Amino acid sequence: MKALVLSGGSGTRLRPFTLTSPKQLVPVANKPVLYYVLEAIAEAGITEVGIVVGDTADDIRAAVGDGSRFGLDVTYLRQEAPLGLAHAVLIAREFLGEDDFVMYLGDNFIVGGITSLVEEFAAERPDARILLTRVSDPTAFGVAELDTDGQVVGLEEKPEKPKSDLALVGVYLFGAAVHDAVRAIRPSDRGELEITDAIQWLIDGGHDVRSTVISGYWKDTGNVQDMLEVNRSVLEGLEARNDGTVDAGSELIGRVRVEAGARVCGSRVVGPAVIGAGTVISDSYVGPYTSIGENCLVEDTEIEFSIVLGESRLDGVRRVQASLIGRNVSVTPAPRTPAAHQLIVGDYSKVQIFS
Ligand code: G1P
Repeated sequence: MKALVLSGGSGTRLRPFTLTSPKQLVPVANKPVLYYVLEAIAEAGITEVGIVVGDTADDIRAAVGDGSRFGLDVTYLRQEAPLGLAHAVLIAREFLGEDDFVMYLGDNFIVGGITSLVEEFAAERPDARILLTRVSDPTAFGVAELDTDGQVVGLEEKPEKPKSDLALVGVYLFGAAVHDAVRAIRPSDRGELEITDAIQWLIDGGHDVRSTVISGYWKDTGNVQDMLEVNRSVLEGLEARNDGTVDAGSELIGRVRVEAGARVCGSRVVGPAVIGAGTVISDSYVGPYTSIGENCLVEDTEIEFSIVLGESRLDGVRRVQASLIGRNVSVTPAPRTPAAHQLIVGDYSKVQIFS
């Protein structure tokens, strides 16, 4: 069994972060989403992994390398343009050969791993197995229709009038028949070769397509709200650990991870929260579900339910909430007179001020 991880895409809904970094590398609890994907694949006993990359190929390569760190053997497959998930399968034909494979979208996050799914697929060897989960807004996803026996009868990509609330999760298991499917289908209205259409082609041709409705946690980390929710869910499982220094004037409450070289002085940190390596938290409050990246300075500030990427500075700001703050960002009070907001904000940023 092999794995095909899709790490192309432009991540428009996560701008401005995706202007400087691929969406798959935005960190959750100080670790890129893509690393969770690769760890789940390694845990399932798969070693041969093809990563499909696009314009952000260099960043993905720099972050993952040859995969040996994860116990994987990674091959990079270049997709010249984001022409769809089924197109990614098309260009991976040679790498995949006749093997069964799991296709995992590099920005998807599922709790509980894929080990049992992979084992079950290897034992039963249907032509495809899709994962489904109930969502409140099916129009944003591929949607499946099941008959009364739970058989998949139809799939639709981002339907205006969804036939169910069962969304396709970005993890798919395939046998070699999918290669005929991706060759047979035509681009959709959005100009992409949809994997949803390829699976529908398999169903129409009488192939064995099975589904599993997962009840565990799943998110497609396509937007900021979802990133914060995934961060919250990962931090739920955090174990307290202190590899830095915490002075006598500070209080760590609940599960807080202080990474190597981080310093907490005169502050109150209420977990679950993680303070990145080399970061200084001083005279501040850091509240639950917060991940502060590496080498940040948080001074005289209150922050909670937020993600701060590395090398950023928050000084004299209260209170920051439900925020995603990028790298090398500086947030400080404006000069007192005149009473005005002073903003130097990059393209596609979103600022919500308290006034
Ligand atoms: C893709 C698939 C969609 C699936 C979703 C899961 O959508 O086309 O069927 O539900 O991933 O993340 P996209 O992220 O390309 O909009």
